[in-house]
Amino acid sequence: MCGIFGYIGDKNASQVLVQGLLRLEYRGYDSSGIVVRNGSLQTFKEIGKISDLTSILPKMEGSIGISHTRWATHGGVTKENAHPHTSEDGKVAIVHNGILQNSNKLRKRLTRKGIKLSSETDSEVFCHFISIELQKGKTPMEALASVLRIVRGTWGLCVLFKDYDMILCARNGSPLIIGRSSDEMFISSDPHAIREHTSEMFALDDGQIARLDREGFEIMLPEGTPVESNPLELDEEWGVSDLGDYPHFMLKEIHEQSQSLKHCITGRLRHSSGSANLGGLEITPQALSTIPHVRLIGCGTALHAAQIGQLLIEKWARIPAVSHVASEFNMNDPVINSKAMHFAISQSGETADTLSAVKEIQRKGADVHGVINVVGSTIARQCGKGVYIHSGPEQSVASTKAFTNMVGALSLFALKLGRGRSLNLSEGKRITKGLKELPKKIETYLADQGPIAEAVDAIIGAKNVLFLGRGVSSPVASEGALKLMEIAYIPCLAYPAGEMKHGPIALIEEGSPVVVIAPNDGVQDRTLNAIHECKARGARIILIHEEGDSIAEIGDINISVPKTHPMLSPLITVIPTQLIAYHTALKLGNDVDRPRNLAKSVTVE
Ligand code: G6P
Repeated sequence: MCGIFGYIGDKNASQVLVQGLLRLEYRGYDSSGIVVRNGSLQTFKEIGKISDLTSILPKMEGSIGISHTRWATHGGVTKENAHPHTSEDGKVAIVHNGILQNSNKLRKRLTRKGIKLSSETDSEVFCHFISIELQKGKTPMEALASVLRIVRGTWGLCVLFKDYDMILCARNGSPLIIGRSSDEMFISSDPHAIREHTSEMFALDDGQIARLDREGFEIMLPEGTPVESNPLELDEEWGVSDLGDYPHFMLKEIHEQSQSLKHCITGRLRHSSGSANLGGLEITPQALSTIPHVRLIGCGTALHAAQIGQLLIEKWARIPAVSHVASEFNMNDPVINSKAMHFAISQSGETADTLSAVKEIQRKGADVHGVINVVGSTIARQCGKGVYIHSGPEQSVASTKAFTNMVGALSLFALKLGRGRSLNLSEGKRITKGLKELPKKIETYLADQGPIAEAVDAIIGAKNVLFLGRGVSSPVASEGALKLMEIAYIPCLAYPAGEMKHGPIALIEEGSPVVVIAPNDGVQDRTLNAIHECKARGARIILIHEEGDSIAEIGDINISVPKTHPMLSPLITVIPTQLIAYHTALKLGNDVDRPRNLAKSVTVE
């Protein structure tokens, strides 16, 4: 989603900014722009790819500037609506992430003052009001502080001034990270974009503002009280990620799953006790043994991981567990039990819906544990404790390796919780063994992927694709459908296999592709019924099954994966669905890593 990158130093700012924008590209955007201070504020914007912006960018001399990638919320995808926005007198330029709730009122106020707004955005109001305050004789800091008092909503905001050699920033609900190297300063919504320049980073907290200049930076509250900066520790794994020999990040990340799962579980598995160690949970064994229930919250792929986590917890720990769509959570005034455990699951750690659910739970008196990939992200810091999933940077909008590691981390938790309750040692050991063997099995499968190309041929041109699974394979079906829909733009429907006959069966006609996930997990025979019901109506079954299994030949296209512990099968059965989505999108000529309309990090509710 929207991204911010700013620079002060001795290099050519426009070049550093474009490089920063390219690092933000993976988050998803539809337009971009930069502004550089060089006597005046020179602004350039373009819709479409960053490469479209670079092709029109003239040589610019300034060494201070801010830039933005926009994902449209208020106002269509136009050059006018792209950021930066500049005040009428050309003295103030802003870039903004987030949404202003009272922008209509503020726009009307500006119009009444005779100011001509040049975009349809909520963000534009910032530059005009700051300019008005400067004209009253206020300092840039005072002007910004006054404007922050009249806006309502969320912001990660950067301001550049024609008459001052500084960048001012403010954060409320939308992340901003400051980077400092010996003689340069950076500001970005994403540490990933700064990492190639410096590892010395500081996160702004909500309600804070910061001033960056050539001497360094200071963080303060709007009334001027200085606050201590909050250093951000990034793991080594958050190095600069590049494509290597892969044509797309998605394919690279699919292939990284063996290694990244190893990172997630290594050092945490305790084979001799058939359990797991998760220090970041910060919870005593006694408290763990009295938890009444567990709630797991996420969006998109993270929600599917939560659904699997729910099943693992109930199965192994025998306590109720429920997964929730984050965007719905607060809508229903949920009853929160402070003794229960709550998990917020998120790759980016920035998803606004998930963050807002976290705040609601905390407001009602309970703790929330993060299951997060991006170290130091907003949700990770808001939770303060939890489990990092250690997938390393995930650049493709369609999530793959983060899903497997979310499931990996949740299985470690379910195992630990189970062993503190009714799960016996020998079953605990079977699970730890199963988890330990999985990275190798993923590697084995990826070396021989089976008839993915045939599955793609069956899917291309289909009106819709149905995904079916039961038990832990039901969320895998949902994840497979999400992936194919996200990047191939084919309508996909995922259903628990048994529910198929209660509606989706109406969609099936001669040749309809149906992807069935059916590992040998004790519920497979019931899935078989659904397969026969689909086949009887002419469906082409793409069956994902375990090798050597009796149902191996039942599909029209049979994709076999190595056998694993029945409850851990999602960690491997999901991979063929990722490959099917990838190759289908590729064959359709779609932009696999940056699918239309989607964003990697959705920072608006
Ligand atoms: C967006 C992305 C999805 C992702 C979801 C949750 O919708 O397009 O791929 O699964 O956000 O993201 P998170 O970073 O919270 O895991």
